[in-house]
Amino acid sequence: MENKFKKITSLWIITVLILFVVAIILGLLMRFNQGGNIKLDPVTFYTDMTIHGLTMIGIWFVAGMAAVNYIMERYVRTSYKANLIAYIMTVVGVLMLWGAGFIGKFHAGWTFLYPLPFKIMWEQWATPLFLYALLVLGVGWTIWTVSLMISLLKKYTLSQVFAWQHFKRDAKPEVETPPFVLISMISLVGVLSCLITAAALDFLLLTEYYSNGGFINDALLMKNLTYFFGHTLANEMLYLGLAVIYELFSEVSGRPKWKTSWYVAYAWNLTLFFVLFAFLHHMYMDFVQPETLQIIGQLASYLASIPSTGVTIFSILVAVYGTKINWNLANLMFFIGTAGWVSGGIGAVIDATISNNFLLHNTLWVPAHFHTYNALGNVLFSLGFFYWFSFQLKDGIIKDKHSMLKILLIVIGGIGFLAAFYFAGADSVARRYANYPEEMASGKFWATFGGTFATIYLLGIILFIGGILKRCFGFVFSRV
Ligand code: HEM
Repeated sequence: MENKFKKITSLWIITVLILFVVAIILGLLMRFNQGGNIKLDPVTFYTDMTIHGLTMIGIWFVAGMAAVNYIMERYVRTSYKANLIAYIMTVVGVLMLWGAGFIGKFHAGWTFLYPLPFKIMWEQWATPLFLYALLVLGVGWTIWTVSLMISLLKKYTLSQVFAWQHFKRDAKPEVETPPFVLISMISLVGVLSCLITAAALDFLLLTEYYSNGGFINDALLMKNLTYFFGHTLANEMLYLGLAVIYELFSEVSGRPKWKTSWYVAYAWNLTLFFVLFAFLHHMYMDFVQPETLQIIGQLASYLASIPSTGVTIFSILVAVYGTKINWNLANLMFFIGTAGWVSGGIGAVIDATISNNFLLHNTLWVPAHFHTYNALGNVLFSLGFFYWFSFQLKDGIIKDKHSMLKILLIVIGGIGFLAAFYFAGADSVARRYANYPEEMASGKFWATFGGTFATIYLLGIILFIGGILKRCFGFVFSRV
């Protein structure tokens, strides 16, 4: 592996980890404010919420992309330039977003749902700055995504890259598609469709902003576009993490490399298709939405999650059942992360079932499920990769210290933090309240409970990332 790829990947890791700690602190401030332990001005709360959400989604997306890019170099030549452009545009975009939020006080939530960006309760300039920040991030990420897709398509034909030659049960194809290549391509196609939608959304918002009332958007269309982009991106970034697990889990465990079987090929091709319609479950309470789309939303939510979850759990169980595994912090993170991903997925499917959604819609059940598959799922996938990667900068031999303590803090802290969201959600406490009214009094107790456990989670994260940061900083500033 060329050193320039190791350097840029180290830079991504350093940036992601620093922003992660800051974003967790914003999360803690929100939780302790909801619990009444500290007092934030509501504008500060919603600014923190907006920046926390956007930063978290952004960093774990780029973390997945950086990992996929690094591993992809094993199979094809990728563009270093595209990677670097994406890095620079991400840094600029994040600075613009933080400027719009922390200085301009823009606080329309990470989904900036139309028409909120135009209900200006912040500096006038913060709305266009926010919209241009999205543009900068979108352009950088689109260049990177397209360039990775081109790299794959230079080596594999369209049918090979989607592993269609593996559909037959006993197929012995001339060209085998590694699961990593298949899942990366499936995810990149999804990512690209999100980014194109985000561009359309941004364009429509900017047009209305500059039209002085001459052009008004359709609110239902805007909500569909917003959730197609936001929900799908949040899912695709998980799949990027899974692509890495399919490549590395067996390797770091000292087991034979995973191959693409017929059921893996089918499951991931189904996911490619169905995940694009799952976002419709965000629209159940929009009664003007055609009913057929609501039903498609429920079906797609099941069909997008069940096949990919099924084959991944099966592959991991086959790899670990009854055999000796070289457990270390990298594959433990992958293993626990998969359990977190599946648990969050179950929470999501419960909420995506229309009859349940009447009760759970916009309650804390929603942050409960997506924090589960992020904080104890996708984040752990990436942390596992970062950890493994940081040892590649030295001799490749993983040496763990205090692993049990780190794992316990992250897992116990994470479970307590998430349980607080679930219990409050099941008790109908609404999401996105800076201060809970009398009717949702239990929300206060659960917020303090969740915040306390989130502090334990943060402690575990700090201990876990210390060594990674040291190795990555050391490599970036070395003369190699
Ligand atoms: C221990 C770590 C974390 C803490 C303490 C935390 C805390 C919070 C809190 C209190 C909220 C507002 C909930 C509400 O009342 O609606 C929130 C929202 C959110 N969080 Fe986290 N979070 C953490 C980790 C994460 C991670 C890892 C991700 C994603 C990868 C994430 C993404 C989000 C998003 C997207 C929102 C929604 C923001 C919005 O509604 O605009 N968080 N978080």
